[in-house]
Amino acid sequence: MDTEVIVVKAPLDPELFRQAGESLAQGAIVAFPTETVYGLGASALEPEAVREIFRLKGRPADNPLIVHLLSTDQLDSVAASIPPLFWPLYQAFSPGPLTYVLPRAPQIPDLVTAGLDTVAVRFPSQPAARTLLEMAGVPVVAPSANLSGRPSPTRARHVLDDFAGRIPYIIDDGPSDLGLESTVLDLTAHPPRILRPGKVTAQDIWEACQIEVIPWQEAPREGDLDRPASPGMKYRHYAPRAQVVIVQPQADQALEAAFLESLQGREGSLGLFLSEESWQKVRQDLALPGLSIYTYQGGRDLDQASHHLFDALRTLDDRGVAQILAEGFEGPEATAYMDRLTKAAAGRQISRRVLFVCEGNTCRSPMAEAIFNDRYQEGEALAQSAGLGIIAGQRLSEGTAQALAEWGIEIGDRKARQIRSRMVTEADLIVTMTRAQAAMMRHYYPQAKDKIRPAADFLEGRDITDPYGQALHAYRRIRDDLGAIMQAVHDSLILT
Ligand code: TXA
Ligand code: MG
Repeated sequence: MDTEVIVVKAPLDPELFRQAGESLAQGAIVAFPTETVYGLGASALEPEAVREIFRLKGRPADNPLIVHLLSTDQLDSVAASIPPLFWPLYQAFSPGPLTYVLPRAPQIPDLVTAGLDTVAVRFPSQPAARTLLEMAGVPVVAPSANLSGRPSPTRARHVLDDFAGRIPYIIDDGPSDLGLESTVLDLTAHPPRILRPGKVTAQDIWEACQIEVIPWQEAPREGDLDRPASPGMKYRHYAPRAQVVIVQPQADQALEAAFLESLQGREGSLGLFLSEESWQKVRQDLALPGLSIYTYQGGRDLDQASHHLFDALRTLDDRGVAQILAEGFEGPEATAYMDRLTKAAAGRQISRRVLFVCEGNTCRSPMAEAIFNDRYQEGEALAQSAGLGIIAGQRLSEGTAQALAEWGIEIGDRKARQIRSRMVTEADLIVTMTRAQAAMMRHYYPQAKDKIRPAADFLEGRDITDPYGQALHAYRRIRDDLGAIMQAVHDSLILT
C-alpha cells in the first residue's frame, strides 16, 4: 500500500482533507495531527477499522481507545449520560488536551472501550484535526500513532517510521504543539480521578472550575492494576530502546552540575537531552568525546522540553546510543513530563507472552520464537519456546540457523529447554506444532487448556512436522509455514 502524505499549509484548505475524511468514514485508517501528539484514526462506528488499529499498533485489546469528537452534539451517540461536572470542564478546557471518561453508550463497539462500561472522549483543538473530523462526519477513535511500546509521535516522520506503507493517509501539519498526550480524567468517580497526567493539571482544573480532582493512585479501584483503568500501569509506554537516565539536580545544584556528575564514570555510547544553553555550559567542563546531543533552543524550559521529549527519545535511539541522559523537572506542572520520562526510564515491560512448543526445542519452536520476536520486538509481546521431551544439552539444529539467516534473523547458540509449568502459567497463548502435541499439552496442563492451540488452527488445518535430520529445503518449508501463521498468532495474542 502507498501512504499518501498530505502536507498542511496555511491558510488551511479543507478540500485537501475531503478524500482522506471520506475514506476515514468508510473504514480507512488515517493518521492525523492533534495539539498533543499524532493520532491513528479510524471510524468509531466501523468495528473492522477499529480492529485494524489494534493490529497495526500491536496493541493489547484490553487497552481502550479515545473517541475524538468535533462538538458535544455528537455526545449522545457515544455516552449514555453526561455527569453535570462535564459542562464547566468542557467550557474551560475544550476543545483542547483534556479527555473525559464517561458512561458509555451501548452502540459503541466493545473493542473501542475494551469491554469497559465507560468511554473516553476528547475534543481536539488543532485545526487540521477538526477539519478532518468535519469531513469524516463520524466519531473517530485515535490512539497515539506509534507502534505499541514506542514513544508517541510528535511529527509526521515518526508516524512514517512506524507505519509507512501500512496505512493509506498521513496528514502532516508539522511538530505537535504540546508534545505529550492529553490528560485523562475519569468523571465516573467521585471525586473525579486523573488517570493519565497531561498539560491540564489538577491545579488548572481547580483554578478554572473549583472542581477538586485527584490522581487515581489516591483512590485506586479494585482491578486497576490488571485492567487499564490506570493507563500506563500495565503497559510499557514511551520507551526507547536505549536505557533512560533522569538527571534531576539536587535542591541547591545547577542542572549542568547534575549532568556532569551523572556523566562521570559512564561508559558506552551516550545521548543527552537538555536545552541549548545548558548544553553550552556542560560542554565547557566535559572531557568525554563522542556524545550524541539533542538540544532545544534557549534555556531550561518545561514547555520546550515537553514539546521535544518524544522526538529526542526517538532521534537519540535512531543514532543507536545505549543510554540517554534526560533533564528532569520538579513541581506539579511537571507531573505529565515526569510521568512520561519515568516510564521511559522504567524500560520494557512485557504484557503478552506466546509460548511455542514442539518436541525437542531444536528446530520448529525456536524458529517460531525467533521469527515472532524479530517481527514484533517493538511491541509489548514476547515469544518463548520449549520442548515436550528434550534431550538435555542439545543445541539448535544447523538447518534452523541457516533457514533463519536467509531471512536475516541471527539466532545465537542456544540449548534446548524443557517445558515447565511456570512457562505455561505465564503464557497468554501456547501454540504447539502439531495437533497431537496440543492434545498432550491439554492432558498435562488441563488448567491451561483454553489457551493451547495447534499451529494447524492458523494453517488451514495442517500440522508443522519435524524437519530434523532432513535437508535445508525441509527447514525452509517450516520456516515459510511459520512465517505465514505469525501475523494470525500475533493478532490472536493481542486480540484476546
Ligand atoms: O492526546 C491524546 O490523548 C492522543 C491524541 C491522538 O488524541 N491519544 C492517545 O491515545 O494518547 P492512546 O490510545 O495512546 O491513549 C489513550 C489512553 C490509554 O492510556 C487508555 O488506557 C486510556 O486513554 N483510556 C481510554 N479509554 C478509557 C476508559 N474508558 N477508561 C479509562 N481509560 C481509558
Ligand atoms: Mg499511546
